[in-house]
Amino acid sequence: MVGPGGREHAMITSLLRDPHVSEVHAAPGNAGIAQDVPVHPLNAQDPEAVVALARELSADLVVVGPEAPLVAGVADALDAAGIPVFGPSREAARIEGSKSFAKEIMAAAGVPTARAVATSDMTQVREALELFGAPHVVKDDGLAAGKGVVVTQDRDRAEAHARECLDAGGSVVVEEFLDGPEVSLFVLSDGEHVVPLQPAQDFKRVRDGDEGPNTGGMGAYTPLDWLPEDFTREVVERVARPVVNELRRRGTPFTGVLYCGLALTPRGVQVIEFNARFGDPETQSVLAVLETPLGQLLLDAAQGRLSEDRPLEWAQGSSVTIVLAAHNYPGAPRKGDVISGLEDVSQDPDTWVIHAGTERDDAGHLVSAGGRVLAVVSRGADLREARERGYRGVGRITLDGSHYRTDIALAAAEGRVTVPASSKTAGPGSEDPGAVADPDGRTEPSTAEEQA
Ligand code: AMP
Ligand code: GLY
Repeated sequence: MVGPGGREHAMITSLLRDPHVSEVHAAPGNAGIAQDVPVHPLNAQDPEAVVALARELSADLVVVGPEAPLVAGVADALDAAGIPVFGPSREAARIEGSKSFAKEIMAAAGVPTARAVATSDMTQVREALELFGAPHVVKDDGLAAGKGVVVTQDRDRAEAHARECLDAGGSVVVEEFLDGPEVSLFVLSDGEHVVPLQPAQDFKRVRDGDEGPNTGGMGAYTPLDWLPEDFTREVVERVARPVVNELRRRGTPFTGVLYCGLALTPRGVQVIEFNARFGDPETQSVLAVLETPLGQLLLDAAQGRLSEDRPLEWAQGSSVTIVLAAHNYPGAPRKGDVISGLEDVSQDPDTWVIHAGTERDDAGHLVSAGGRVLAVVSRGADLREARERGYRGVGRITLDGSHYRTDIALAAAEGRVTVPASSKTAGPGSEDPGAVADPDGRTEPSTAEEQA
């Protein structure tokens, strides 16, 4: 397992439950991962170093967790060395690494998404802002570790963000605002076949009520009872399969997980973005209820053997993930704070802790080492029960200055999430300007500006 975070710890937790997986190693891992499996120091973005370690361990499969190593060509190097790898090539990972490339693929494949203008020219930026109107959406074209997107009512702020990106030598994508609840759907692909997991929802903003700046994700839950019944099938047929087909047609097949970030708008399902890897923290909840053994599934994807005919097995009930973040996150997080109380969380067998930014200090104490420090994952008969367990678990952890959202999955548990009328029945792209936006969705940016 290549990567250091919560998503990787969650995958390792699942792999260790798979009876066919004999051994798991992680590089570079974190303090929680190191409690579960051997870890190895590694620069995950150095393709040759990853290949060397995989050879040393005689790995049957390398799973690449985060996007940066994929964009750096780690999967290409493993593939060239004949080592099975779960994760796309550098070229296919551009679906995440370049927003304008993603738009190009979607246009070629007929996938519904926000209208957009990709440019490195300030005059064109202004024209596009004028064309689409407020709220404005301006995205850095390249990978920006979550800092690249500004959604704002403030025209000057939108222009300033575009100018910053252009001044740094990059280009931007200006696009229309998509209004409606967001859904993350992970779709496994072996380059040809596609197998969807269960949809999840992420909570991007740092504070309750979707207030404050965007983060990597403050919590998640699955399943989404409020979705239209054929949602997953529709996204597979209208979004994932056309994209996988288009990438294969171009000679750059996509192997790994295509993360479809979607908005359920009054015009139907629209793509907000693609990622070339699992989402964090949605993965923690999705894998908590996946009963199909993960190892074989990832190996099948890596080796072109995914079966679309064998449905995945899911546990009954719900899973909720609550992220505990460090003081000052999503700004520069304070590090080195001592963490305690984790043993108390696992008194409840349906609640456990996934480590993200943790390490051991010189004295051997568990300390914070990143913005998102831990995630408490819980399962329950329904969202209400899973939330109760999860929040009880979070309450047992002590980390000075830490914070978490108290409303993860709350609206869904109370039946308050609704889908814009036309998203329920009509296909993507269908027009229904009269539909009412969801009160729990992003009817408008919650504050004057949001940075993703
Ligand atoms: P991205 O990096 O593209 O995932 O964007 C980060 C977040 O910004 C998304 O999860 C959305 O909440 C928001 N966002 C991005 N694009 C749009 C859009 N066209 N309309 C509304 N919100 C958006
Ligand atoms: N949870 C959002 C992401 O992984 O990008």
